[in-house]
Amino acid sequence: MVTSSHRDLGRNALGQHVVIDPYQQAVWDNCGLVAAERADLSGYLDFRERSSSRELAKLSGEGFQVDPAYIDGSHLIEDVFVDFYFVSRLLSERGIVLFDDSSSAHVWKVLRFIETNLKANFVPFDLRSYRADAGRSLKYRLAGPLRRRQLQAFQKVGPAERAWNSDFCNF
Ligand SMILES: C[S@@+](CC[C@H](N)C(=O)[O-])C[C@H]1O[C@@H](n2cnc3c(N)ncnc32)[C@H](O)[C@@H]1O
Repeated sequence: MVTSSHRDLGRNALGQHVVIDPYQQAVWDNCGLVAAERADLSGYLDFRERSSSRELAKLSGEGFQVDPAYIDGSHLIEDVFVDFYFVSRLLSERGIVLFDDSSSAHVWKVLRFIETNLKANFVPFDLRSYRADAGRSLKYRLAGPLRRRQLQAFQKVGPAERAWNSDFCNF
């Protein structure tokens, strides 16, 4: 669990891992929160039971910063896009944003938008060194060109805001 990495790094429990899920109780019976409690990790969590689009908009208005950000909520294109819109503004300079289920058609479209229209400010971030197989397996190497990668990441290398009249690059 990502939350435990804060403890593994010897950090104090300061609610530094913001987690957003409107359905944690209604659909999931709080199983994620219970697992965190059983692992004695609740103190590292800052759980918000709202849709990510609304909560991220609120955080962004508060000048909050995050790094890294992991997008794995609703997989509808409109939600993924809005999640990325706000995360891109919340991300610290050089921060990393990760997209789970990146082979889903909804998520893939958002990734293509970033690659084509935001390439000056967000560059692909290589995750191979974080994998047990260092990305050497044939399955992983084929997954890239076949658009079957589970997880994809970008690093923020420039401001998220663009000029309002920037050109649109079709994709
Ligand atoms: C594919 S699961 C991933 C959960 C978790 N990241 C994991 O790997 O176990 C997607 C999660 O997004 C939540 N979700 C659905 N719509 C959402 C929304 N609009 N905002 C935030 N979370 C949402 C679901 O309740 C579910 O828990």
